[in-house]
Amino acid sequence: MENHNFVNIKTLNRDELLHLIEMAQEFEKYPNRELLKGRVVATLFYEPSTRTRLSFETAANRLGAKVIGFTDAKVSSVSKGETLKDTILMVSNYADAIVMRHYIEGAAQYASEIAPVPIINAGDGAHQHPSQCLLDLYTIYQTQGRLENLNIFLVGDLKYGRTVHSLIMAMRHFNPTFHFIAPKALAMPLEYKAYCKKHNIRYIEHEEFTPDIIANADILYMTRVQKERFSDLMEYEQVKNIYILRKDMLSKARDNMRILHPLPRVNEIAYDVDNDPHAYYIQQAKNGLFAREAIYCHCLGITLEDIRKDKTIIK
Ligand code: CP
Repeated sequence: MENHNFVNIKTLNRDELLHLIEMAQEFEKYPNRELLKGRVVATLFYEPSTRTRLSFETAANRLGAKVIGFTDAKVSSVSKGETLKDTILMVSNYADAIVMRHYIEGAAQYASEIAPVPIINAGDGAHQHPSQCLLDLYTIYQTQGRLENLNIFLVGDLKYGRTVHSLIMAMRHFNPTFHFIAPKALAMPLEYKAYCKKHNIRYIEHEEFTPDIIANADILYMTRVQKERFSDLMEYEQVKNIYILRKDMLSKARDNMRILHPLPRVNEIAYDVDNDPHAYYIQQAKNGLFAREAIYCHCLGITLEDIRKDKTIIK
């Protein structure tokens, strides 16, 4: 059994991503099993979370593992000055895998270089959110029946939104066309545009967000303006409600188009969209459970074959 870290989506090749999607499909059929019975998973959250932490913890519980951890570093010895290195080494004494969200970009990579157990990145600053990316890929595949040749529109905070950065990297294997819709202040950073050029990923930039612009979208991926990443709150105030998707903007949308959002939303999707057939963000969040069950297996050396032969299913 080979253990793996899950830190940066760009280290996974096409086959590995498709393999993880197949694993998630198995877990959608049967989420309750005892594949991780006797294991302990730690969840260390240095930043707030609802979906990521609770779905990782649910995934561990549904696979028979026990969960330890903290939801706020202030209640741990971090508040007494303990370093990330010492915290990771201590928790590695107790847990078989560590799920960590941290506000510093690269924190998960650093942890993976010192930890004797697998590190799962649950978000590092504005950098990466690879587990969200896997559930996004799973949801795109589920709603479109394929990952290849899709028009994917990313809307909102493309500067600080780590989920869109991860999605670009994962989609490089599937010949996408991206449309980046953002005001100048929140435009896709140069490094990700350079990444697109290097990998022959087509992208078009827009500042306008109108029914005509989104008419040929297969996926409309809305994002929240990441208030917590702004050093100047006046700048946040200027852009916070820049784009709001309302139901009447969907009149020209393709039938197959689905609206995704990593959530939480603030104002960027009006509530009148929730009952529209294009809305898919609640199901998307549910897929986080199946994707994260797959990630634990990947990290702890449990293969797709093991999952398919599994006799511990609880129906
Ligand atoms: N999508 C996401 O990361 O949500 P949380 O911040 O609630 O975990």
